[in-house]
Amino acid sequence: MDENQSQTGESRPQTGTGLPEATKSFYRETLAQLMDHADLLVCMIDINRRVTMFNRSFERLTGYPRSGVIGTDFLQWIQPGERDKYLHAMRESVAGRNISRLEAQIKCADGNIARVVINTATVPGEDDTPSSVLVIGQDITELKTLEAQVLQTERLASLGELAANVVHEINNPLTIIESYSTYLLGKLKSGDSIDESSIERMEHIVEAAHRVRRFTRDLISYARQPDDEFAAVDVRQLIMDSLSFCAPLLADTRIQVRRSIPRDLPRIHAIKGQLEQVLVNLFTNAIHAMGMDGVLDVKIEAANGMMSFVVSDTGPGIPPEHVSRIFKPFFTTKPKGKGTGLGLSIVARIVENHKGRITVESAVGAGATFQMTIPISKPPGAASSPPPEPEQ
Ligand SMILES: Nc1ncnc2c1ncn2[C@@H]1O[C@H](COP(=O)(O)OP(=O)(O)O)[C@@H](O)[C@H]1O
Ligand SMILES: [Mg+2]
Repeated sequence: MDENQSQTGESRPQTGTGLPEATKSFYRETLAQLMDHADLLVCMIDINRRVTMFNRSFERLTGYPRSGVIGTDFLQWIQPGERDKYLHAMRESVAGRNISRLEAQIKCADGNIARVVINTATVPGEDDTPSSVLVIGQDITELKTLEAQVLQTERLASLGELAANVVHEINNPLTIIESYSTYLLGKLKSGDSIDESSIERMEHIVEAAHRVRRFTRDLISYARQPDDEFAAVDVRQLIMDSLSFCAPLLADTRIQVRRSIPRDLPRIHAIKGQLEQVLVNLFTNAIHAMGMDGVLDVKIEAANGMMSFVVSDTGPGIPPEHVSRIFKPFFTTKPKGKGTGLGLSIVARIVENHKGRITVESAVGAGATFQMTIPISKPPGAASSPPPEPEQ
């Protein structure tokens, strides 16, 4: 297609000087109206990082008057921890590689943080060298809040489901503490000496108390709204923490857990709380599917810059007509009160958030295998360390 033809076949207006003044002013006026009345955030930044245009939607979202923003360095409106990401996006755009769906945070006049998703387009100058970057954004603050709420709802729902097992997990060590200390008290009261077996019992008491403390601490940290900051995550620890959260579910079954976790795994760039939620859901689903007997297999591998998590079970498997639906919200085959149908849809969302992939393989009667792969390193431009302050 000719460079100056749009997809509808019309001629695109030339940016050059060949047009009559009246036509140019018509286009200028139309463009200005469009910018101001479109329900989109639009701004233009020149190659020296100065804002040259700032539309009304941007003014409304941020609370900054256009007059205060035009001519300033755009970096000063960006959260310090996010500036590297923007500089990278800016460099890419200037080089002609437009950015799409970059999620970012903007500091507003009232101190609140607005979350936006932006696309960029390079606007060529007179001699076709890049002169400016057009930034088109959408406000996703509300969407992000709703997303966090759904995530939290599922976490709490799975906690509710586990409540009976939680009681169990606390009662077992309490029984040990109660019976051994009653026995020891009796011994002390009757003047018996403390022997080897008494010391052993005391050690059991201490260990049981530790178990309760560890468990309640894990429970609270799982129920708490997780961080949404990416950081270096130790994969072995992540698997251990997720499995230990499922311990109460496993306690009443004969299910065996097999783990294959290489010793020298690199850390991954991830949000630990979110990956924990993924694994707890995959493990819970596998345990529910198997019932009393079976093998839960967890295999970790690092290859080609990706960390692979494979979770398989020996349960009844997933019928082919369900496979395409299990990642959809509210799809559940579990009785009311047992499943929310939100687990795997949240899993899919979290994996996407980590720029990873999740697949499932299953055959009726032959168990199910979920494989999640997550990039080990931080993608370029997704820096979280603040770059130097921009000049004003
Ligand atoms: N390991 C598995 N084995 C068999 N079926 C599974 C497995 N994992 C998920 N499923 C199916 O996918 C459905 C959706 O799972 P999920 O989204 O976690 O919701 P929930 O666990 O609340 O039902 C389950 O109800 C079940 O039918
Ligand atoms: Mg589930």
